[in-house]
Amino acid sequence: MKRILVTGACGLVGSDLVLALQSKFGSENIIALDLHDPPKEFQGRFEKMDVRDFEKLKSLILQYDIGQIFHLAGLLSAGSEKNPDMAWDVNLSGLKNVLDIAKDHNIRVFWPSSIGVYGETTPKILTPQHTSFEPNTMYGVTKVSGELLCQYYHHRYGVDVRSLRYPGLNGYKAMPGDGTTEYAIHIFYGLIRENRYECFLSADTRLPMMYMDDAIRGTLMLMDAPSEAITIRTSYNFTAISFTPAELVAEIRKISPDFKIIYKPDYRQKIADSWSQSIDDSQARKDWGWKEEYDLPKMTTALYEGIKERISNE
Ligand code: SER
Repeated sequence: MKRILVTGACGLVGSDLVLALQSKFGSENIIALDLHDPPKEFQGRFEKMDVRDFEKLKSLILQYDIGQIFHLAGLLSAGSEKNPDMAWDVNLSGLKNVLDIAKDHNIRVFWPSSIGVYGETTPKILTPQHTSFEPNTMYGVTKVSGELLCQYYHHRYGVDVRSLRYPGLNGYKAMPGDGTTEYAIHIFYGLIRENRYECFLSADTRLPMMYMDDAIRGTLMLMDAPSEAITIRTSYNFTAISFTPAELVAEIRKISPDFKIIYKPDYRQKIADSWSQSIDDSQARKDWGWKEEYDLPKMTTALYEGIKERISNE
């Protein structure tokens, strides 16, 4: 078989996706790529490089005879606000490099968009697939631009590029990073380490979320779907659950009744407030059968167990 490349392989999604792909297709067929060194427990093929280096990326893709790329390398919302120039460069130059190589070598591409595409003028409840996109973050600007680039490369050059607007994704195989939704992971580190957490969003900030196993399953479902089933070439609305920090805390208190939470909203509150509270992802459900398996209680238990084990191995 042709091999599969995952960029951003050490990130929150990449860490889970590489493992899932290795067990589905065999370790030797998966090439993990990242700018950073892999964690010591990583097993498999690994390449360290910057996706902005077109020539190096192209020769690696040809050398390994790559047939699919999961292009995850990119900056998240809060990180992009800290360094907008770099966010533009990494998020869009990296994507364009991948699309240019894909168009010449018949490679199927997955690229993650995000709830970051939504903005003040977007309906916040059950946000439709086709709606207004006026994000007020650099992250959102790169995601809207990236979606349009993907659709352009599909229509103009026939590139089989597929995309999901990821909600807040909650997993434990990598450390959470610079994302606004990632309070929902950090909170478990606070719970397990000191039974308290200082939350950078307010108690009632409702955001669309998903447990990582669902996200990985959905991503693979989309990539496995027959091309004619894919009716959206910008990016699919994609969601599972919506909850607030207060609702997550109520779940956590079933594990630890005296868990202490302090709300201290910072600059990330404005980012969260500009996003949707819930999403209509019926197109994904209709086109390729998307359906989540994790609700809030099930996600809470899974994250708690996973992060507890991770911390005990530190
Ligand atoms: N999880 C991302 C973030 O908060 C949104 O896609 O930046």
